[in-house]
Amino acid sequence: MNVILVGPPGAGKGTQAEKLIAALRVPHLSTGNILRAAIAAGTPLGLKVGPIMKAGGLVSDDLVIPLVDERLGQADVAQGCLFDGYPRTTPQADALGVTFKRLGRTIDRVVLIEVPDSSIVERMSGRRSCPKDGSVYHLKASPPKVAGKCDKCGTELVTRPDDEPATVQGRLTKYATDTAPLISYYQPKGLLSRVNGVGTPDEVFASIMKTLGR
Ligand code: AP5
Repeated sequence: MNVILVGPPGAGKGTQAEKLIAALRVPHLSTGNILRAAIAAGTPLGLKVGPIMKAGGLVSDDLVIPLVDERLGQADVAQGCLFDGYPRTTPQADALGVTFKRLGRTIDRVVLIEVPDSSIVERMSGRRSCPKDGSVYHLKASPPKVAGKCDKCGTELVTRPDDEPATVQGRLTKYATDTAPLISYYQPKGLLSRVNGVGTPDEVFASIMKTLGR
């Protein structure tokens, strides 16, 4: 199964991805996590994209597209995966279409998680993330069992550098100009499902599973 999660920053894509990969038994393909891992490892790619991500910009298509293409060539994603944060621009969607055609694969569903901008800043300001395994928490909505520690690996949780309120506003603007056009890209293909992202994480998860026919 190949499912794409689309939605503004802070809509809950990462939160839902964690639940969906367990329920659907598919690997998680998050370009945000791949890029953050490159930054943490200090690779040449990480050094290049670090300042862009910190400022809330989008990494250029010519860096992201080959990264995903290479990932899609690996055995563990051959039977399908959950895309989180990719594609994020029309050229990325075009490139994914070309790659899938070459690999004989199809997109099963594109799930758009809709959350009003007014909720996003609150979500981002309370977010804490695990720098080791990418797990996502929220101080109020989904706190870790032990304050400040990842439930899964015990690593100290961090605030993402791109979660500053001023940066979040820029990311929302970028979403509107660069990513929202994917809605009219996938809708005419009959692939798009809209899900209300307001509600508890479990309620949103139930809506997504329903739209996936599960
Ligand atoms: P990425 O990591 O993909 O970030 P994003 O899309 O901006 O989304 P976020 O991770 O901020 O939010 P989310 O929707 O996953 O929400 P979450 O579940 O964490 O990308 C980061 C950067 O990398 C980009 O800005 C760009 O620079 C670069 N990048 C990545 N992919 C790229 C690409 N393809 N092309 C170019 N550049 C790329 O939830 C947010 C908070 O809300 C959490 O605290 C969570 O606990 C809480 N929460 C979740 N659900 C609920 C709920 N239902 N109710 C209450 N709180 C909730």
